[in-house]
Amino acid sequence: MQRRGFLKWLVSCLAVINGLILGIPFIGTLLSSAATRGKAAWSRVGAVDRLPLGVPVEVRFQSSGTEAYFHRSDLNSVWIIMHSRGDATVFSPVCTHLGCHFTWNQQHGRFECPCHASVFALDGTVLYGPAPRRLDTLPAKIEKGVLYVEYERFQVGTPEKKVI
Ligand code: FES
Repeated sequence: MQRRGFLKWLVSCLAVINGLILGIPFIGTLLSSAATRGKAAWSRVGAVDRLPLGVPVEVRFQSSGTEAYFHRSDLNSVWIIMHSRGDATVFSPVCTHLGCHFTWNQQHGRFECPCHASVFALDGTVLYGPAPRRLDTLPAKIEKGVLYVEYERFQVGTPEKKVI
């Protein structure tokens, strides 16, 4: 092999090695990001024995997940109704009309949104107002007395529940 040919071969080999060193982690990140996109992680909300039965309570908790290349940690809240120590309904705190946070009115036994006066029953159905669909439930599970939630965000202002 001529000296010039050897140098070309050597430079090509170094370029391939350099490409692998830089490219493999990048491709791995893209693949893992694509695999987890749109899938929320389970977040620990708290012990169920501290929650009252049959009465909605708003609970704040820290949720975490990966979006694109970034690990994020957010402070979120959910509305929880414990039907028993092993069964709960968890609502997103976001009104399905335009995204305000609603509250529970204990006196009237209903959820009320302060922005445009949508009113929801204890089971989340719309009683009055412009909300186009019932309150959004979140996936929840109870393991060893601890409630976990998959915190997701949904499109507002539409009759269909769509994760965003
Ligand atoms: S945002 Fe709740 S009623 Fe409009």
